[in-house]
Amino acid sequence: MLLQLATWPEVETYLESSTAVVMPIGSTEQHGPNGLIGTDAICAETIAREMSSRIDVLVGPTLAVGMAQHHLAFPGSITLKPSTLLALVRDVVESLLCHGFSHLYFLNGHGGNVATVGAAFSEVWSTRSFAGSSRATPRLRLRNWWTGARVMALSAELFGNAEGSHATPSEVSLSWYAHADAVKDVSLTPEQAPDGVIRDAADYRRLFPDGRIGSNPGLASVAHGERILAAALEDALEDFQRFTEAD
Ligand code: NI
Repeated sequence: MLLQLATWPEVETYLESSTAVVMPIGSTEQHGPNGLIGTDAICAETIAREMSSRIDVLVGPTLAVGMAQHHLAFPGSITLKPSTLLALVRDVVESLLCHGFSHLYFLNGHGGNVATVGAAFSEVWSTRSFAGSSRATPRLRLRNWWTGARVMALSAELFGNAEGSHATPSEVSLSWYAHADAVKDVSLTPEQAPDGVIRDAADYRRLFPDGRIGSNPGLASVAHGERILAAALEDALEDFQRFTEAD
């Protein structure tokens, strides 16, 4: 069930049998010359929606803007400051906890969100600890979709070291599978982008002039995206089950 397409009585009924919810979280940022700006949000949302078609789980609205300051030298990128994202995630979590949700599973599409979302979880927990709350501890998890065993094996098989770390052929393929009408036919020079460390926006564009890091998304395809989605779905379902069944 998708929260955006549900009514409040439906959510109230859902809560009688489950208090788990999946929240897709991504980013709106450049993904090189042939990757969609919405890639990270699209990937997380696509996998989360597939989860809801396989199991009875509520999927919340995609948080489509994340912490992406290092991409701001490329037109179209939008970022929240870490402090803004922290406040946003904390408020989303507290809202869901108000209704009785106990297990909040953030399915993440963007590495730049990891530190800040982790800090937001710590804010939620520390607020309860300081208040001396004896209420049940909220179970909060951030899961990067691309780190599952099946996805990593498939990416290695399909792309080897051309996977790189930003604007990867895996994520570009998955976003193209979700939006086949938005596939871009663009030649890439060099085929494989340089690798390195990221800092601020100006530094990023100087070191990685077309936006990619270490990747060759020229290898991306809709057909690969279909396989990557299938692998990511199995990884996510397995991880989600472990999360909801633990203690
Ligand atoms: Ni990405």
